[in-house]
Amino acid sequence: MTQPVRLVGETGSTNEDMKALAAAGEPEGAWLRAEVQTSGKGRMGRAWQGDVGNLYASTLVRLGPLDQPAHSLALVIAVAVHEALSEFVGAGVLSLKWPNDVFAGNAKLCGMLLERVGDAIILGIGINIVSAPVLPDRETTCLRDLGAASCDAAHVLERVAEHFANSLAQWRTYGLEPLIRAWQARAHPPGTALAAQLPDGERISGAFEGLDAHGALILRLADGSRRVIHAGDVFLLNP
Ligand code: BTN
Repeated sequence: MTQPVRLVGETGSTNEDMKALAAAGEPEGAWLRAEVQTSGKGRMGRAWQGDVGNLYASTLVRLGPLDQPAHSLALVIAVAVHEALSEFVGAGVLSLKWPNDVFAGNAKLCGMLLERVGDAIILGIGINIVSAPVLPDRETTCLRDLGAASCDAAHVLERVAEHFANSLAQWRTYGLEPLIRAWQARAHPPGTALAAQLPDGERISGAFEGLDAHGALILRLADGSRRVIHAGDVFLLNP
């Protein structure tokens, strides 16, 4: 089923626009896409910038009383985007980094930002299609550079929206266990060296072990101890 998409030319942030729409009663399943964003927001207070031709879009989920915890939607959208983008670049090219970044090797292809307004969770995705922003501290890539020559933002969003609608229905029907298995199957391999910047400022590093039953990240530290991470910024080490 095709999901409804509103298209705007230029806006500050599609997440901010979707928050306003959510407050005005926008139903679950609607998408908003902008051709360009002037104040796009990333995780941890960072900015998200990019060229015309890349994808900037947001949708909303209305949480019901029987739904799984809201934070697990980060994994739902990650799996859906990974599935959709793999259609363009082939299987085995992309991997997920907790909670919901999509990487090709050590280069970031896509980021997602979840925000809450009342009973609505706003999910924003930024996908580099035609160009990869140059950043001082991290490698980036885009679909074109990965060989997906003929895709455009409208088509990529169509595929993302369809996969997301399916993943969301499965999350509601079957819960977290199959979702966590699906996420792990798309992640970098166990043992991958990761660093995590925790909300209290602590920085730790360790080997990726997987996710716990709630979707939190498990790291094995050098001293053999195990740390379960519920929030923070995670980086690939030793690229
Ligand atoms: C990240 O830091 O990795 C998350 C980036 C999320 C960017 C997208 S672009 C569309 C939506 N609107 C925003 O302002 N941010 C998200």
